[in-house]
Amino acid sequence: MPPDNLIDGRAIAEQIHGETARRITALRARGVRPGLAFVRVGEDPASKVYVGMKERMSGRLGIESATHVLPEATPQAAVLELVGQLNANPAVHGILVQAPLPRHIDATVIFSTVDPRKDVDGFHPLNVGKLMLGDPTGFVPCTPAGIHELLIRTGVRIAGAEVVVLGRGNIVGKPMAAILLQKAKHADATVTLCHSRTRDIAGHCRRADIVIAAMGVAEFVKSPMIKPGATVIDVGVNRVADPAAKGGARLVGDVAFAEVQPVASRITPNPGGVGPMTIAMLMHNTVRAAEMAAGIIA
Ligand code: GUN
Repeated sequence: MPPDNLIDGRAIAEQIHGETARRITALRARGVRPGLAFVRVGEDPASKVYVGMKERMSGRLGIESATHVLPEATPQAAVLELVGQLNANPAVHGILVQAPLPRHIDATVIFSTVDPRKDVDGFHPLNVGKLMLGDPTGFVPCTPAGIHELLIRTGVRIAGAEVVVLGRGNIVGKPMAAILLQKAKHADATVTLCHSRTRDIAGHCRRADIVIAAMGVAEFVKSPMIKPGATVIDVGVNRVADPAAKGGARLVGDVAFAEVQPVASRITPNPGGVGPMTIAMLMHNTVRAAEMAAGIIA
């Protein structure tokens, strides 16, 4: 395959930001300023980077954002108290509690406390349930929603496709499978969800028209695992030691990009594939939450 088979996540994210910006202009014309609150507990270096990127994009689009940074040792009750205040604040339309949380905090409890109407991450059980039921009034988690948009906007045929999702996490793998198996336009796929206890992952992958790698193992997906002409989506962000790199480490995806790219018909670069789409969908969800709060949409 020619080297121009890259799925340009940055360009598609920009397209979505353009659509979001127009909706923000319309909201502002009605006197509504979309607001997004970030909660970060502890000093996880990756979380700092991610929240920083989300803040900057909020600012660029005209979403009012505020970041609440709590010390690592903050008791769960104090995090719940903050979430309660944000739930009650009418200027806040979206709330994002960045994962991972410190071990003494139960993320499920925190996510269940966010007002489902402000749950722009789509992690509240009500929104998880709506996704499973195919109810479009819920919020869909940003990374799988972004991958879905990438597939749609690059014209990848999903209906009837064999899709293998690698990884069963609540943030990507499980919601990704739920999106693609719905009886709906741009879905209707046959989805196989593989995980650490799956026998013969390579065998599953080789049958797939679309492989979505989100298990967090550096360069796990190798070229013999990919059917020629398949579409490959790499969600992974893994730090691997590299004495030659700045800081002694570099970031690699879950896909061995150099060897898989020539086999795939289309593939996401990493960075520049899925990452920008996660942020685009967060901005999109926040504007939707503001439109819902303003009674513009149901
Ligand atoms: N950590 C990794 N991905 C995400 C995400 O999409 N949302 C939140 N809140 N935390 C994350």
